[in-house]
Amino acid sequence: MVEINKEKFKLRPFRKSDAEVFHLGINSQRIADYTTIPIPWGLENISWWIGFITDAATQTPLPEIHFVIEIEGRFAGSIGIINIDGHKCEIGYWVVEEYAGKGIMTEVIEVVSDYAFKKLKLKRLFAPVLPHNKASARALEKNGFQMEGVLKSFYFKDGEYIDALCYAKVW
Ligand SMILES: CC(C)(COP(=O)(O)OP(=O)(O)OC[C@H]1O[C@@H](n2cnc3c(N)ncnc32)[C@H](O)[C@@H]1OP(=O)(O)O)[C@@H](O)C(=O)NCCC(=O)NCCS
Repeated sequence: MVEINKEKFKLRPFRKSDAEVFHLGINSQRIADYTTIPIPWGLENISWWIGFITDAATQTPLPEIHFVIEIEGRFAGSIGIINIDGHKCEIGYWVVEEYAGKGIMTEVIEVVSDYAFKKLKLKRLFAPVLPHNKASARALEKNGFQMEGVLKSFYFKDGEYIDALCYAKVW
């Protein structure tokens, strides 16, 4: 699997040793409020998931691929190209609190979109965004994603069906 080096960050495959720092970063109410990522997400289950996605990254056709965002050697978040289905896929991402609001994800989305379109030859990228997630919507808009409409009852979260905004970019 590839590594992508940029001035501000590196995108690299997950390693088993990322489990603890991933566990620390992802178990945050800030992330739970804007996603359907479970909280708490246990360390054992995270270790299993890292094994699962590492294996998935070797399969053909590729079902999903996830990158660690690393800044100066430190774990800063992750981004996944998931649900790859023929020419289309979904993207999902999060950044560790101390790196939020610094323009990191805007640039990461740019790099990963470029990789998905040019290297994986995908045609359509899609991100379902909760309506109150202004930061995610803005990072997508800055990368040329367009809001195509409302996905009714797209998520089931905290015992309720909730809508998502459909952001997509076609290459
Ligand atoms: C969404 C998330 C990944 C954004 O990452 P980030 O690195 O902080 O984003 P960036 O700094 O690149 O840019 C975000 C943009 O949103 C803007 N923004 C941030 N909070 C905002 C708010 N409450 N209202 C409006 N705009 C907001 C920023 O100002 C910036 O736009 P600008 O450059 O025009 O000023 C991060 O907030 C996060 O991890 N959230 C929790 C998980 C999540 O929501 N994942 C995505 C699910 S769809």
